[in-house]
Amino acid sequence: MGEKTEKLRQIRDEVLNLTTSPLYAFRKQHGYFPVIGQGNHDAHIVFIGEAPGENEAKQGRPFCGASGRVLDELLQSIGLAREQVYITNIVKDRPPDNRDPSKEEIDIYAPFMQRQLDIIQPRVIATLGRFSMEWVLTLFNAPERTKKISALHGKVIRTQSSWGEVAVVPLFHPATSLYNPAQRQILFDDFLVLKQFTTP
Ligand code: URA
Repeated sequence: MGEKTEKLRQIRDEVLNLTTSPLYAFRKQHGYFPVIGQGNHDAHIVFIGEAPGENEAKQGRPFCGASGRVLDELLQSIGLAREQVYITNIVKDRPPDNRDPSKEEIDIYAPFMQRQLDIIQPRVIATLGRFSMEWVLTLFNAPERTKKISALHGKVIRTQSSWGEVAVVPLFHPATSLYNPAQRQILFDDFLVLKQFTTP
């Protein structure tokens, strides 16, 4: 097994046993799985969503419900397959009632997210929604970290990481487009920004 895969499995095992998480009991009660992430461990582009929904928690895979179908269409629109990228969420367990993740929940799962980035070392991080955008921009201490997603979506924010330059591309969450065609168009337009990073 490759070294990256081994390290990512270690993260999975730790999250599986994360009894200190406020979401652990809820996971156990419903027979859910944590969603660690899926895709290419050498991906140039990592997508970070918020937290698993019900479908994701049942299957243990990210973005496999309605939002995932939008994400698949978006990837396809710039000629990317899921297998080429890595897709994950900051919060690895499903919050009840699909509510927003709390600060406490983000804080407990953030070290795992950070380790995933250190292992995969992407050139581009595309954030899906404001929670992951704020978290990533804060992680890299980007001056834009206090700005709103309405001002930053579709922009390329160049930051420095321990493994070199990383471009952060904030995107709206795919769920915002489900019942809103105008929002859907914005997502597709913003996604085009990623196309410049799709060649090796
Ligand atoms: N929404 C997210 O943020 N992540 C998923 O995996 C699914 C829906």
